[in-house]
Amino acid sequence: MTLVAIETSCDETSAAVVRDGRVLSNIVSSQARLHAEYGGVVPELATREHLRNFLPVTQEALRAALVTADDLRAVAATRGPGLPNALMVGLKAGQAIAFALRKPFLGIHHHEAHLYSPWVSGPPPVADFNAFQPNVSLIVSGGHTMLIYMESEWKHRLLGGTLDDAAGECFDKVAKLAGLPYPGGPELDRLAAQGNPLAYDFPRPLLREPNDDFSFAGLKTSVRYFLQKHPEILEQAAKTRDLCASVQAAIVEVLVTKTLRAARRLGVRCVTASGGVTCNSALRRELSAACQRESFTLRLADKSLCTDNAAIIGILAERKLAHGQVATSLDAEILPNWTLS
Ligand code: KG4
Ligand code: ZN
Repeated sequence: MTLVAIETSCDETSAAVVRDGRVLSNIVSSQARLHAEYGGVVPELATREHLRNFLPVTQEALRAALVTADDLRAVAATRGPGLPNALMVGLKAGQAIAFALRKPFLGIHHHEAHLYSPWVSGPPPVADFNAFQPNVSLIVSGGHTMLIYMESEWKHRLLGGTLDDAAGECFDKVAKLAGLPYPGGPELDRLAAQGNPLAYDFPRPLLREPNDDFSFAGLKTSVRYFLQKHPEILEQAAKTRDLCASVQAAIVEVLVTKTLRAARRLGVRCVTASGGVTCNSALRRELSAACQRESFTLRLADKSLCTDNAAIIGILAERKLAHGQVATSLDAEILPNWTLS
């Protein structure tokens, strides 16, 4: 089956063509530069950019995959959660294309697509998916931090999530406090690589609590107070790098410890991770080391598929259609607050 997918839930306009579990093209037009001067995503600007970009990006995805509209058997788009008007652009565009081509349309849950993204690429192929069930899955991005118990391919349960800020939001806000350019997560990661993670001791929120929830707002606030007390740190490059490494170590320790604790408790043998923050080098390294120590099989989403992109939407949509999921109505509306149950 050849399928085109569109993703516009936040600040990336993306279109992808997938066929039989493989990604033929995955075009991502990032708006990061546009939002940089405001220090965060401005919803109205994001919507305008999606409107401007979705057609050229979709055309480019078809061209790069060497397919035409006649080859398409289905169309998919992100239905939620996300910024309402941004979602509306991709969903309505996808429904219009499906209507024009008289093909089935599928509205996809953004987080469910992240959840399945560790299987999009790399051996073993998607077909071997069931060999990794059950598993505990960490989805960690700019908007969400959650742990999911995936019992079997279509049966998953939310174990816990963030009570306030997501881990990516914490990375971005701390980076802003440190004067780093937006989006701060990747920049903080880069500086942290040359810093000392033991230089400063920041809190590890909810680390010892016997639940699967997260909370990162307090950590960000403690960094703010710390920098108010020690403004000289930001005047020295080496100390700024130490600060980045220390904050990153606190976030990563919480994510790794709570993920493995859930995996142990539920008796699974496999752990997966996905979402933008899964690009973080310390998280990849520490999660790999911890899983190796405790003999868990780890499946990390490929870095190119961690941040928002349409390939993960397309792969999940194709799999759902292949498993008999009924198409979404062409009148279906966006679901900006769609939760993963
Ligand atoms: O999944 P994503 O593209 O968008 C959401 O659904 O939120 O994730 C974006 C988030 C941002 O907060 C960004 O700073 C963070 O992922 N991020 C990183 C890194 N790369 C992206 N955070 C830490 N280290 C990175 N290398
Ligand atoms: Zn995302």
